[in-house]
Amino acid sequence: MLGLKLPTDPRWVNIVEKNIEEILTDHAFCEQKATSTAISLIVSFPEYTDLVQEMTALVKEEISHFKMVHDKIIERGWVLGRDRRDDYVLQLIKFFPKGGSRTTQLTHRLLYAALIEARSCERFRLLSEELEDQELATFYRNLMVSEANHYTMFLGFARQYGDKKEVDTKWQALLEYEAEIMRNLGTYESIHG
Ligand SMILES: [Fe+2]
Ligand SMILES: [Fe+2]
Repeated sequence: MLGLKLPTDPRWVNIVEKNIEEILTDHAFCEQKATSTAISLIVSFPEYTDLVQEMTALVKEEISHFKMVHDKIIERGWVLGRDRRDDYVLQLIKFFPKGGSRTTQLTHRLLYAALIEARSCERFRLLSEELEDQELATFYRNLMVSEANHYTMFLGFARQYGDKKEVDTKWQALLEYEAEIMRNLGTYESIHG
C-alpha cells in the first residue's frame, strides 16, 4: 500500500496509546503544516493553474482536519500545546539538492508532500486498526481515506509538471531514503516519530 518501502512496526501504537494527549497535539500541528504547505505552494507557483485550484481546496480540507483534531483535544478536557519539532520531515527534506530550475524545485516539493501524506496515511491506518480506544480508531479511519487521496494528487502533479520518467526515478529513490529514516523511528508518540 502507498508504495512505502518499510511498514511501521505496530508496536508504535502501544507507545501512542499511553499518551493520547501528545499524539493529538502533534497531529493537530501536522494538519496545520499541511495547510501551510498548500498555501506556500500557491504563493511560490501561482502560474500553475491546476495546482492553485487544487491547493485552494486542500487548504480548506486540511484546516478542517485541524479543527477536527482540535475539537477532540477540547472534548477530552485538554488545551492545545505548542508545536512539536518533526525530525522525520526535517530529515526527509534534505534529500534533494537545493536549487535547480523552477520545475525541478516544484517537483521536489510535490514529491516531499506526496511522501509525507503517504506516511501519515499509513500511520492513520495503523491507528484505526490497532487503537483500543474505538472512538479514536473510527476518527482515524475517516481521516485515512482523505489522506490517501492527497498522496496520489501530489504525485500526480509531480508527474504532470515534471518529466514523468525522471519524476518516477526520483520518487523511487526518495522512497528508499525514507525507509532508511523510518528504520530509526516508530519509538515516539508522534505522527511521524
Ligand atoms: Fe489532513
Ligand atoms: Fe493531507
